[in-house]
Amino acid sequence: MNPADRVIVPLDVSSLEQAIGLLDQLPQATFWKVGLELFVSIGSPILVELQARQKRIFLDLKFHDIPNTVAGACRAAASYGVDLVTVHAAAGRKALQVAQTAATEGAIAAGHKPPTLLAITLLTSLSSRDLAFDLKIPLELPEYVLQMALLAQESGLGGLVCSPQEATQLRQICAPDTVLVCPGVRPDWAEAGDQQRIFTPAAALKAGATYLVIGRPITQAAEPATAFNRICDELATVL
Ligand code: C5P
Repeated sequence: MNPADRVIVPLDVSSLEQAIGLLDQLPQATFWKVGLELFVSIGSPILVELQARQKRIFLDLKFHDIPNTVAGACRAAASYGVDLVTVHAAAGRKALQVAQTAATEGAIAAGHKPPTLLAITLLTSLSSRDLAFDLKIPLELPEYVLQMALLAQESGLGGLVCSPQEATQLRQICAPDTVLVCPGVRPDWAEAGDQQRIFTPAAALKAGATYLVIGRPITQAAEPATAFNRICDELATVL
């Protein structure tokens, strides 16, 4: 895979015009993330736009519901022909299993390749304290992440969203072809912003990431295309 194909740029905006502005600024970016804000704001036209430009799509809607509803959402998401879709591992084994089956059926019925489903193990916005005191989960945070990763693997999911910090350990327990998608990445020349526990792009790849989600260091740069190319140059040194 060439370095540019390892970087997923999030479309963290709320209108089609803003999204198109980013797409026009970064013609060399091949993989884009559509999250809740943009999808709830404008819906599927953004997917149509990305497909018209022959981009790969990470539809990050983090499904978490009863099995029947998660399955329906995954079937619909897959029918758009997206590449990656997120589901919360905490939805449980049954929901994860039917999600994978429904995504495969939905893609095939629409003539697309099935997407890889990615499990969210635990939102990185949650701390050990939140886990223990609010969610009442009696496990250390890294152990909980590991258990959710194992549940996702056993349920047939193809990948995980994780911090680069967790990638090394998850690589050891997951099947070799597991797709690990890592946000929390910052080149050493960029501001950390609100991201904690950051890794540089090269360090995140070395830790085992398959894809890196990198937003503001690219989208807020004075010259986004230059920032993107600089990140690709860094990745090329470790690929
Ligand atoms: O601008 P930045 O590089 O921080 O953007 C990272 C993207 O990855 C955002 O779309 C953010 O919502 C998402 N994300 C994250 N941390 C997670 C999961 C998703 O930053 N644990």
